[in-house]
Amino acid sequence: METKLLSLYSQREEALTAAAQTLAEGALVAFPTETVYGLGACADNAEAVRKIFAAKGRPADNPLIVHVATMAQAQALSRSWTPIAQTLARAFWPGPMSLITAAVPSIPAVVTAGLDSVALRMPDHAEALALIRLAGPIAAPSANLSGRPSPVTAAHVHEDMAGRIPLILDGGDCRIGVESTVIDTRGEVPVILRPGQITKEQIEAVCGACRVADGVLTEVTGKALSPGMLHRHYAPRGQATLVWPSAQAQKTLAQLYDMAQSIGLRPVILCAKAMHEAMGARACLVLDEQGDMAHGLFAALRQADEWGFDRVFIQGVDPAGPGLAYMNRALRAAGFDVAGET
Ligand code: TXA
Ligand code: MG
Repeated sequence: METKLLSLYSQREEALTAAAQTLAEGALVAFPTETVYGLGACADNAEAVRKIFAAKGRPADNPLIVHVATMAQAQALSRSWTPIAQTLARAFWPGPMSLITAAVPSIPAVVTAGLDSVALRMPDHAEALALIRLAGPIAAPSANLSGRPSPVTAAHVHEDMAGRIPLILDGGDCRIGVESTVIDTRGEVPVILRPGQITKEQIEAVCGACRVADGVLTEVTGKALSPGMLHRHYAPRGQATLVWPSAQAQKTLAQLYDMAQSIGLRPVILCAKAMHEAMGARACLVLDEQGDMAHGLFAALRQADEWGFDRVFIQGVDPAGPGLAYMNRALRAAGFDVAGET
């Protein structure tokens, strides 16, 4: 299959029209959002949604997020829109937050992976919203091959999806660079199933309380609240280790790097600017060039692969506030291989 790339800058109208038509025909379109690129199909077309799982190699038990452009679309997909859902949607939509709510039975089972709940999100991205307005609600996971880092540029999508999908919309770099906060809104208090840029503290400020699910910073086995927690994620091709934040972290990173190099490996350190300065001539990819560490993580993991580094050491940060999303992704990228834990 030939994969077409259309720019949302130089050919916006043509790109959006072609994308809406491709979706209407039951085919897939990759499109930018403020978090990461999504791989979309019309949410009411089971046959089309099945193609998402095939293109990504995604396990069938991992449900998709349905993207909406209006509150009315969200409420029409929910069997029980709770006051918590309403409060959160009001405070943070459009934005990097997916709300788990009871699903109406008309949503195809392939979207929800057979669960009785559905994840809904209104992205804060003008072109994504324009596309949803043209095509209706869009079911979309991140547009990477299953297990690879989420794509934050159209080039990343092309790397993984060329030949597998007919159309990629190029909207440049994603502003946030880490996927949405996923929140279960069905209980007494909101529960964070996957941390993102919107933090526990921000949710507490509007809802009064908020819980973080077990498994956000630990390896989940058996039954998970969110099936995505079970799967291997974000992995670079080189073996990765996370160095836990502590006063010793600088020393640990340098020692691990030097040891790897001494046995003939090509190591790289993924770290903050300040740590880079302390690492001397050692190869580093700086994560916080354009804001927080999470923003640079996925691109750096792909860059490490591309440049042929075969041993990756990732600097940890305090897993509080915005650090929770970063540590959740970094731990998964490292397959929970942690050094320097105190
Ligand atoms: O920012 C984002 O969320 C991006 C953009 C494209 O919107 N999307 C994204 O989708 O990251 P995906 O499929 O890569 O991750 C969705 C996560 C998975 O961990 C999945 O298990 C969880 O949301 N999820 C979806 N529906 C769920 C449900 N009904 N119950 C529990 N977890 C659910
Ligand atoms: Mg994903």
